[in-house]
Amino acid sequence: MTVTSQTSTPAKITRPRKPSAPAEILPNVYQVFTEGQMTLADVEWEQQRFHEWRRWNAVEMVERIDLDSLSEADRIYIWNFARAELTTKPGADRLARLCDSECRRWQSEDPHLAAVIQACGTWSRYWNEEEAHHEAALTHLLRALDFEPITDDMFLEYRQIFPDDDMLRTLFLLTMSEVKTTVMYTSMANKTSDAGLKALFNQIASDEAHHMRYFNAFARGLVDSGRYSPKGAFAIAHFFVREGGEMYGYARQRKEQRGSHVNWWDQLDFRHAERPDDFHRQHKLTYVSLEQVTGIRVSSPEEVQDKWMELVA
Ligand SMILES: [Fe+2]
Ligand SMILES: [Fe+2]
Repeated sequence: MTVTSQTSTPAKITRPRKPSAPAEILPNVYQVFTEGQMTLADVEWEQQRFHEWRRWNAVEMVERIDLDSLSEADRIYIWNFARAELTTKPGADRLARLCDSECRRWQSEDPHLAAVIQACGTWSRYWNEEEAHHEAALTHLLRALDFEPITDDMFLEYRQIFPDDDMLRTLFLLTMSEVKTTVMYTSMANKTSDAGLKALFNQIASDEAHHMRYFNAFARGLVDSGRYSPKGAFAIAHFFVREGGEMYGYARQRKEQRGSHVNWWDQLDFRHAERPDDFHRQHKLTYVSLEQVTGIRVSSPEEVQDKWMELVA
């Protein structure tokens, strides 16, 4: 089955990198298809190479942690993020489903956009696998600690699937989740004194930063197609960075009431441990992501709101 008009003429395809070049995240995925530089199979191989370049062994990393040396704060961090990581599988399952239905929607009208969305759905399996490392490492560590366990009821509750939304809004929401995890794992790595746990948190933080870049690249592909307004990304950013917004999650006085799914950032509870929020860095990464996706530069919650309202108008 052909998805792009180039797939039947492989001789004309020009590949931008030699096979030995380092794997990378394609920053301009829509142009890659419109200019006939790569097929979906070419893009899939780039994703595979990037995934393999990034792979690590969760069993080995967990074994390097000295459980007896962990502080109470370390245990609280592990407990919080073991639960948080449970929500990534339903997120990835939902993304795969959404990508397929959205790809079919555009297949005849804009096959290049359909290819971008199919590439995103293909990548979602690597994302899901990488998140499995985070979840399994942390839930295993928690089982080894004398701390509150994850019950099966809790496991099932955190596995609930998020409701469907517009594709660009969905991708930018996932960007925001990766922004938060990138910042918080980095911060927790800086706070722990156990070398093994520090290495694990830093490894996960690095994965989350790459996930953020992937979501930004696919979101930019949607915007570059002209079929999705940048207002979708700004709407989500505003929802997070506004006063009392989602970015502040568990720290807010009033939280959104949801019966359908769990937003992990609402459920954090650091008790007496130092909070790893670093909201300044979360804001900075949000503005960087907005610029990568839309080409529009902003630097404050007020500018996000103004630009969002301008785009809506
Ligand atoms: Fe994760
Ligand atoms: Fe992630």
